[in-house]
Amino acid sequence: MTAIDSELREPVGLRIHVVRPVGLSCTKLDELACLIVEGGQIRPDNIADRLLRCRWIAYATDNEKVVGVAALKTPHDGPDDNAFYKAKSPYNYDAFTMEIGFLMIASPYRRKHLALALTKTLCDLESRSNLYATVVEANCGAQSVLLRNGFVQSGVPFADRGGSEPLVLWVKVPT
Ligand SMILES: CC(C)(COP(=O)(O)OP(=O)(O)OC[C@H]1O[C@@H](n2cnc3c(N)ncnc32)[C@H](O)[C@@H]1OP(=O)(O)O)[C@@H](O)C(=O)NCCC(=O)NCCS
Repeated sequence: MTAIDSELREPVGLRIHVVRPVGLSCTKLDELACLIVEGGQIRPDNIADRLLRCRWIAYATDNEKVVGVAALKTPHDGPDDNAFYKAKSPYNYDAFTMEIGFLMIASPYRRKHLALALTKTLCDLESRSNLYATVVEANCGAQSVLLRNGFVQSGVPFADRGGSEPLVLWVKVPT
């Protein structure tokens, strides 16, 4: 556990944690799952199992209460059912084994650079790996967080599985 770095706004009382999912207590796993589901984009039924399959989970607490989360997922999508294929990206999906996802900040804690810090924490852990993320095209906040962490947009907006809004693919390749 580390104190949030000095770039964050109003850091007093806030802590960032980064863990392997296996190191989480059931209570903390439930708290993280509840916060992610609040975002409205993730179905509640299997979120805990999906979190347990992540490589890393970064989360922020305010006096022990979870107020923000992001994770590094290891997706296994099919050759014609992955974001790179659907976005017509020049990059090859097989070269990207980790995806930043489950990014959610509790409403009262937004615009304090928590999303920036959680995303940076995960990027720093895997700084030698290709990373990607997909974001709803209209979600300027999340896209700004990726841009400011060194991601660039790749390909064209594409239709989500069952979702109504187009998604945009973002990639980060080590230099
Ligand atoms: C999107 C979200 C994760 C941003 O979290 P956050 O902690 O408030 O973001 P940060 O404070 O780190 O913002 C970093 C920068 O992103 C941009 N940004 C963040 N939220 C924004 C918003 N609502 N509108 C426009 N720009 C925004 C700003 O440029 C901001 O920097 P600034 O405050 O210095 O101008 C948060 O609003 C959220 O949890 N939303 C609901 C869930 C969601 O959309 N998750 C992303 C799914 S991919």
